[in-house]
Amino acid sequence: MLMTTDFDSLVAARRSIRKYTGEKVPDSHILDMVASAGNAPSPSNSQPVRYLHMVSSELRQGIFKNMETGYRNMLAQATSLEKPRKAINILNHYWRYSRFMFHAPALFAVGVEKQGDSFSGRLNRAGLMEGKALETMGCDISLGLSLQLFMLKAVALGLGTCILTAPLHFLKRENAIPGSENLLIRCFLTAGFPDEYPAAPERKQPMEIYRKV
Ligand SMILES: Cc1cc2nc3c(=O)[nH]c(=O)nc-3n(C[C@H](O)[C@H](O)[C@H](O)COP(=O)(O)O)c2cc1C
Repeated sequence: MLMTTDFDSLVAARRSIRKYTGEKVPDSHILDMVASAGNAPSPSNSQPVRYLHMVSSELRQGIFKNMETGYRNMLAQATSLEKPRKAINILNHYWRYSRFMFHAPALFAVGVEKQGDSFSGRLNRAGLMEGKALETMGCDISLGLSLQLFMLKAVALGLGTCILTAPLHFLKRENAIPGSENLLIRCFLTAGFPDEYPAAPERKQPMEIYRKV
């Protein structure tokens, strides 16, 4: 039987890792993480989450160039502002927290299927629900749950991971990632053997995030 302490240690051991050894992630580990992610609950068991493993170096280079162009365009825009310093600092900060993903041994674009088979999706297509808000919500919750299982399995395998959404602000998205045509790409995800052991960041106390109403 799984001990509560094992679960707690697994959860506590997960950190966002941004520096990796050069060691390749075995394919079997990738499939194990994806299999764990596939156990996540989703609306009507619609399983809308998809992991695109970006293995081709040409593709990774193309995405980097695409993002770098976006970053430079935004920098040029920032420079023309009345007070450019603050905007430039923000851009540089998020660029630093984006570009490391290209050094990760494994890099995934993670998305959800555009036409989910959830209750919200069915209502929407039947013309009984306006807007996409609820449909997107189900997908976003499914994505988070799936990522969490992926990342915890990574810890169990001795791997580190990091979710990234900052790069999406630099990426000119249309057709940037092959295979993403029917997906809403929501984040990138890195994986590899850790080459850093960051301290746990401060967390809110349980009573700060919980109350009886
Ligand atoms: C939705 C989401 C988006 C994130 N985007 C980025 C990112 O673009 N770049 C980055 O370096 N880290 C990113 N992170 C990682 C967070 O910075 C990290 O989870 C947080 O600082 C807590 O640290 P921990 O994961 O080690 O507990 C993201 C995390 C989440 C959940």
